[in-house]
Amino acid sequence: MNTVSVELGNRSYTINIGANLLTQNRLVVDLLVGNQVMIVTNTTVAPLYLEQILTQFDGIDPVVVKLADGEQYKTLETVTIIFDALLKHRFSRNSTLIALGGGVVGDITGFAAACYQRGVNFIQIPTTLLAQVDSSVGGKTGVNHPLGKNMIGAFYQPLGVIADTAVLATLPDRELKAGIAEVIKYGFIYDAAFFEWLELNLDKIISQNQQTLAYAIQRSCEIKAEIVAADEKELGIRAILNFGHTFGHAIETGCGYGTYLHGEAVSIGMCLAAELSYRLGNISHNELLRGIQLLERSGLPISLPKQLSVDNYLKLMAVDKKNIDGEIRVIVLKGMGCAALPLSVDCVLLRKTIQEYGAIRSD
Ligand SMILES: NC(=O)c1ccc[n+]([C@@H]2O[C@H](COP(=O)([O-])OP(=O)(O)OC[C@H]3O[C@@H](n4cnc5c(N)ncnc54)[C@H](O)[C@@H]3O)[C@@H](O)[C@H]2O)c1
Ligand SMILES: [Zn+2]
Repeated sequence: MNTVSVELGNRSYTINIGANLLTQNRLVVDLLVGNQVMIVTNTTVAPLYLEQILTQFDGIDPVVVKLADGEQYKTLETVTIIFDALLKHRFSRNSTLIALGGGVVGDITGFAAACYQRGVNFIQIPTTLLAQVDSSVGGKTGVNHPLGKNMIGAFYQPLGVIADTAVLATLPDRELKAGIAEVIKYGFIYDAAFFEWLELNLDKIISQNQQTLAYAIQRSCEIKAEIVAADEKELGIRAILNFGHTFGHAIETGCGYGTYLHGEAVSIGMCLAAELSYRLGNISHNELLRGIQLLERSGLPISLPKQLSVDNYLKLMAVDKKNIDGEIRVIVLKGMGCAALPLSVDCVLLRKTIQEYGAIRSD
């Protein structure tokens, strides 16, 4: 089993990573505080993995809440379903909520745990690659509002995270690849050696070699944990985790939610951000090509959606949270494996990067 510590003083915790962690030991039960336990999952994950977890519990009978599956249910109404169940079963402050599912279930459950009686214990069992390398680490929890994604939320850290690599076997291929986009992001922004390791080991990740997957998840979590430990509330360096996301969010919103998975939009966004970094003279032509090739080899999209004009991008990017005083700020690379803090980018250069996207690669 691989472990990663998230160092946040008295809110520190461990991420456990490995194959069959849900069945081969009692990691979940060992983390429990109190004997009032609620497992929150959804209608897709429950039939696959709920029984496996329940075998760990003897003497404790967890209440199970099964939510409808989908980002469209990441709402305050769904959080209320959890509160209703907690109150109906008279859960006290000394209870534990367990999130069993992808990022949607994790974000909703974490937020419910942060709010119920001003905070109860919370354990993350992420079951998508994206959730294992990204959303279950770092303590951001929350739900969407009709006027904005992730607009209602809290920073709230779990007692621990258990990432079982074996559960990824049932994940749809497209979802696995969307998670790989975030793994590649860590190489781009923080660790050139990890990027090279990914170039060498990508095929084993795609074919789900358990040890290779576990290392990819471990290194991703180590990088995210280091960044979060330095800047839990995103006042500075944590912003580099948004590499490719300013462009990516524009693509997600512009094409309509659901057209691209988040990781797919981020893949295209990282291609644009890498090209921008090259145009700024920060990475070489070869590094740009290698970056884009790795995304392409992962089966991720690297072409810009035809339906968005340059003006569409600029308009959509102008509403990003990182912007200050109306200037568009983007995360670019200072070099391969090293991202810079958000940088105000001249609109002419931004326009040129989007308009001429791809052309410089054939230079
Ligand atoms: N909190 C954070 O820091 C953070 C970071 C990144 C993303 N997010 C959030 O995470 C969410 C996306 O997470 P996601 O990509 O995990 O999507 P998701 O939770 O919607 O899961 C994707 C799909 O896979 C299914 N699924 C999950 N595990 C499975 C398994 N093992 N086998 C088969 N099917 C399985 C789910 O039911 C769902 O249909 C978004 O809401 C995003 O805002 C949060
Ligand atoms: Zn992301």
